[in-house]
Amino acid sequence: MEHQRRDTRLDLYHDRYAARAFGMKESAVRALFAVANRPEVVSLAGGMPNIADLPLDMVADALSDMIQSPAGPKALQYGSGQGEPMLREQICEVMAEEGIRAHPDDVTVTVGSQQGLDLITRIFCDPGDVVLAEAPSYVGALSTFASYQAEVVHVEMDDDGLVPERLREAVLTLTARGKKVKFLYTIPNYNNPSGITMSLERRKQVLEIARETGLLIVEDNPYGLLDLEGERLPAIRSMENDQVLYMGSFSKTFSPGFRVGWVLAPHAVREKLVLAQESATLSPPTFSQYAVSTYLKVHDWRHQIVVFRDMYRERRDAMLKALTEYMPAGSSWTHPKGGFFVWLTLPAGIDSQAMLPRAVTNRVAYTPGTAFYADDLGARNIRLSYCYPTPERIREGVRRLGEVLNRESQLNRTFGIHPGAHAVHNVESNSPHPDQA
Ligand SMILES: Cc1ncc(COP(=O)(O)O)c(C=O)c1O
Repeated sequence: MEHQRRDTRLDLYHDRYAARAFGMKESAVRALFAVANRPEVVSLAGGMPNIADLPLDMVADALSDMIQSPAGPKALQYGSGQGEPMLREQICEVMAEEGIRAHPDDVTVTVGSQQGLDLITRIFCDPGDVVLAEAPSYVGALSTFASYQAEVVHVEMDDDGLVPERLREAVLTLTARGKKVKFLYTIPNYNNPSGITMSLERRKQVLEIARETGLLIVEDNPYGLLDLEGERLPAIRSMENDQVLYMGSFSKTFSPGFRVGWVLAPHAVREKLVLAQESATLSPPTFSQYAVSTYLKVHDWRHQIVVFRDMYRERRDAMLKALTEYMPAGSSWTHPKGGFFVWLTLPAGIDSQAMLPRAVTNRVAYTPGTAFYADDLGARNIRLSYCYPTPERIREGVRRLGEVLNRESQLNRTFGIHPGAHAVHNVESNSPHPDQA
C-alpha cells in the first residue's frame, strides 16, 4: 500500500527546538532554486566549481585500482578521528605551495572545510561570544556562527582587504564592553563573496594586531591556489604558528563531492578538534580520504590546478568585459585576482533582493548581497559567480542582468526610489558597523 504523506505547513515541533535552531536561516536563493536551475536561466548565483576539466577516466581507474589493492579494505573501514596519516602528509605538501611549513600531527581532516568551521566554532564559542568577520563574508560561515548563537561583528574592508584600524577598534571596543571576542574569521585570498585579496602589508598588520591583542585568527583558504594573475601571497599561517587556525579544502582544486577539507591547528587545539570530530562523525569518511590521497599520488595535481586556473581566468575575463559593456552608470564592481566571485555595487535606489524575482524572470540568477552580512547590509550588492557557466553564458547572463537593471533604473526615475534600497554597502566606502562606532 502506498504511504500517504500528510503534509502540514504548521510546524508542530516549534516549541521543542533548541534555541540554536532558530538562528538557522534559509538561503535567499534557495526559494528560487528550482527556477534558477532551469536550463534557460543563466545562474551566476552558485559557487559550484567547474570539474569538467577533470580527467574522469583517470579518476575512475585510480579509484578502481585502489579498491582492489591492499588499501581497499582499509578504505571501506572506520578510520582515525584525526584523519588518515598518509593523507595528512600529502596535505602538508599541498600547504607548502602557499609557504606553510606544517607537521601532519597538527592536521585534522574534516568533512569539507565547512565542517572545519563547525568544529572550530563548537570548541570556541558559547552563545553570545563574538566572532569578527570581514564585511562581507562567506554565507556558510555566517550560518555556522549563527547556529552556535555566536554574535558576528563585521569589520570593514577596502580594496586591500581588512582595514587594520577598524579591526583594532573592534577588538578594543568590544572587549571594553565585556564581550568575549573569540576569533577573527578571514578569507584573505579572493574573499567569498567580494573577490578581494588581503595585501601582504595588511596580512602583516592584521597579524601584528592579533599578537598585540591576543586575538585568534581563523584563516579560511579554499581558493588560494586558484590565483589568476601569477601572484601568490603567503598565507597568514606561514608567518605565525601559534595564533592562527588554518583551513584548507580539496573542493575547489579537485572535487567537492568527496567532502575533504582540513584544519591545521596548534597542538592543544588540534586535540580538542579531534575530540569534537569523534563526537560528530567518529571518523571523517575513510573512502573519501583514500580517494583524495590516491588522486594526489597518481595524478599531476599541480598541473591540474594550472588547467583549472586557465579555465577560470577565461571566465573571469569574460565576466569583467561583459560588466564593462552592460552595466548601467552608477554601478561598480571588484576585479578579483583569483577565486570565483565578483562583487557588484548597484546604482543607488536598487534593492538586489527585491529585484531577484524579476531577474529570474529575465532568465538570470545571482545571490543578493544581504546573504553575506549578519546585519542586513548589502541590499545594493550582488555576488556574481563566474566559476560554472561557459564564457558565452556568462556574457549572456550579464547582458540579461543589464536589461533588468536598466528597467529598474527607469522605474526609479518614474516612481522614485524603492524604500528598502537604502542599506548601501560598498566595500570601498562603507561605514563601520554600529557596534564598532
Ligand atoms: C570561503 C569558503 N569557505 C568554506 C567553504 C566550504 O567549502 P568545502 O566545505 O566544500 O570545503 C566555501 C565553499 O564555497 C567557501 O567559499
